[in-house]
Amino acid sequence: MIDDFLLKEDLPNIDLLFGQLWEISVDGMRLIDEDGKILLVNDSFCKIFQMEKDKLLGKPFSIVYKRDEQEPALEAYRRDIRNNKIKTLFERENTLWNGRKAWFEFSNSFLTLPDGKKITLSVIKEISERKKSEIELRESESKFKMLFNSANDAVFVTQLSNEKSYGDFIEVNEVACVRLGYTKEEFLQLSPSAIVSPKNMPEFNLNMERLLKEGHVIYDVVHKAKDKKLIPVEINSHLFLYNDKPTVLSIARDITERKQTEERLKRTSKLLRELATHLQSVREEERTMIAQEIHDELGQVLTALKIHISLLANKLNTNQAPLKEKINSLSGMIDASVESVQKISSKLRPGILDELGLIAAIEWQAEEFEKLTNIKCSLVLPKQEIELEKNKSTAIFRIFQEALTNIARHSEANKVMVSFMNHQSNIYLEIQDNGKGISQDQIKDFKSLGIHGMEERAMVFGGEVYIEGFAGKGTTVKVEIPFNELKNGH
Ligand SMILES: Nc1ncnc2c1ncn2[C@@H]1O[C@H](COP(=O)(O)OP(=O)(O)O)[C@@H](O)[C@H]1O
Ligand SMILES: [Mg+2]
Repeated sequence: MIDDFLLKEDLPNIDLLFGQLWEISVDGMRLIDEDGKILLVNDSFCKIFQMEKDKLLGKPFSIVYKRDEQEPALEAYRRDIRNNKIKTLFERENTLWNGRKAWFEFSNSFLTLPDGKKITLSVIKEISERKKSEIELRESESKFKMLFNSANDAVFVTQLSNEKSYGDFIEVNEVACVRLGYTKEEFLQLSPSAIVSPKNMPEFNLNMERLLKEGHVIYDVVHKAKDKKLIPVEINSHLFLYNDKPTVLSIARDITERKQTEERLKRTSKLLRELATHLQSVREEERTMIAQEIHDELGQVLTALKIHISLLANKLNTNQAPLKEKINSLSGMIDASVESVQKISSKLRPGILDELGLIAAIEWQAEEFEKLTNIKCSLVLPKQEIELEKNKSTAIFRIFQEALTNIARHSEANKVMVSFMNHQSNIYLEIQDNGKGISQDQIKDFKSLGIHGMEERAMVFGGEVYIEGFAGKGTTVKVEIPFNELKNGH
């Protein structure tokens, strides 16, 4: 055919041409006969197998291999030739005569010479480097697969596309399939929003935006399984490029147990708080009742006694002076009793709190404190009474009393400053003394029941108590309570 296109005289010396091609080729080239004897090799072949040309010519081709690989190679070749089944293209790893292991790609062609002899032309490339990286890739892939599937956490890979902001799942692991009840095939048809509980969608969207901006997010969300079962999870998502496309790797940890424990803890502390609140109010009610009973009953009896005794005194004659004396002293004792009844009942529950309000009660309590302890007490109070729910004003008043009692008992102070105000939505009460100062340990001590009682009372109304002590300088108790009622247990 070629003859039709090329004029014989245009052809260069054909032997020379093929001879040069043979030598300049970077691939190893080898001609062997049907016995496997080497007829010809090129320079690249010698370089690849690190043997001199004259050591190769006329020898079996297997001479380039390690001794124990020689026979089998030769045998295989001869068998294939006999059966006319020579492989034309294959890859093989061999150990060479010098012990070096290498991968080769063989490309074989068969020629039948005019005299009927068969020869084989092999073009041989060393491909060790390529093989090494292929093997490494396979190994790292299988390692990754193992990791991917042996994790306890569900793992999802999604790829973002232009039309869909979250893309579709392109890979999920076993755990994800088992946990959410989808087969892998079903999963790969879904988009991430399909497994998020509808209630959680706004949060999910927000976190996807954050992920795109920051490259990494951790958030809690609730997953919805195929059977509609809800599973709270903690998601850890990373954004990276895969095949030049923004891709998200998300690991979802089942936090059902953690959530349940949190729930239980929340319930328990809410219960405890409600119980404490209940006990406080029962105590307050009892105190109020006892204060009233003492005041009314005992007060009336004493008043009656006083009247009767005065009447009696009036009936005495002038010569009964010693008896009159006695009656006067009795009347004095009754007065003292009336006073002490008032004191006891106001200690139990100051009527002033109910009658005149919190500010008046604080003022009164501070005066009493000053009289009793000789500790100077200065007050900064709002001009107008603050309208508060009864329980709240009682709580604030009791906290105030406890703070004053502590000052009297522990502080060794000689000055107290009290400020009380309402600002915006909060009520602030601050009691500051100039005593020895409470220590951190004393504040935190489980045995500091007075202090924890103050904290508890404030907490019932969503408020807080802050206590600070400065050694040698004094102690400050700050109470902050929201003006408007907050729901218990927030
Ligand atoms: N104003 C204060 N100054 C100095 N120490 C104080 C003051 N208030 C409290 N403390 C310390 O904190 C401890 C805990 O107070 P509290 O819980 O009220 O218990 P209690 O008064 O029954 O001892 C007190 O025993 C005292 O040592
Ligand atoms: Mg105390």
